[in-house]
Amino acid sequence: TQRTLILVKPDGVKRGLAGEVLRRIEAKGYTLAGVELKQATEALLEKHYEEHVGKPFYQPLVEFMLSGPVLAIVAEGERVIEGFRSLAGTTDPTTAAPGTIRGDLGRDFGLKVQQNIVHGSDSVESAEREIALWFPHLAS
Ligand code: GTP
Ligand code: MG
Repeated sequence: TQRTLILVKPDGVKRGLAGEVLRRIEAKGYTLAGVELKQATEALLEKHYEEHVGKPFYQPLVEFMLSGPVLAIVAEGERVIEGFRSLAGTTDPTTAAPGTIRGDLGRDFGLKVQQNIVHGSDSVESAEREIALWFPHLAS
């Protein structure tokens, strides 16, 4: 079976959507293996977003992710990585499909970085790397 790292980002936590995201993960049939409210640090985010370091949205992204606590989640189940990416919808919440977390609950607020409620690992390698960063005691 597979595991993925999901974050309810600071916008989602502030808007009171953490429970709604957990509800959708569970309703889809995935198992929760870890859930923890955490304040990110710059060092953690530099590792988490290593593929984006140097991009124009990187600094605004880090500032946004430091702006409040995130709910970090490890979810488990067959093909949960692509399954949660599908639940989340595409990156831009304005055009993410209705029915998805971003499509139903997100929109453009005219800010420097897209605030799109959730993060989900995008591959087996990212998932293992990100779980080790956010939940060292759950690393395989
Ligand atoms: P995550 O699940 O959060 O990783 O989203 P993603 O995989 O759909 O997007 P990606 O990893 O490419 O980018 C990470 C985050 O950076 C996104 O979720 C957005 O918050 C932000 N971001 C990505 N691309 C852009 C962009 O072109 N412009 C702006 N302003 N923000 C972006
Ligand atoms: Mg990504």
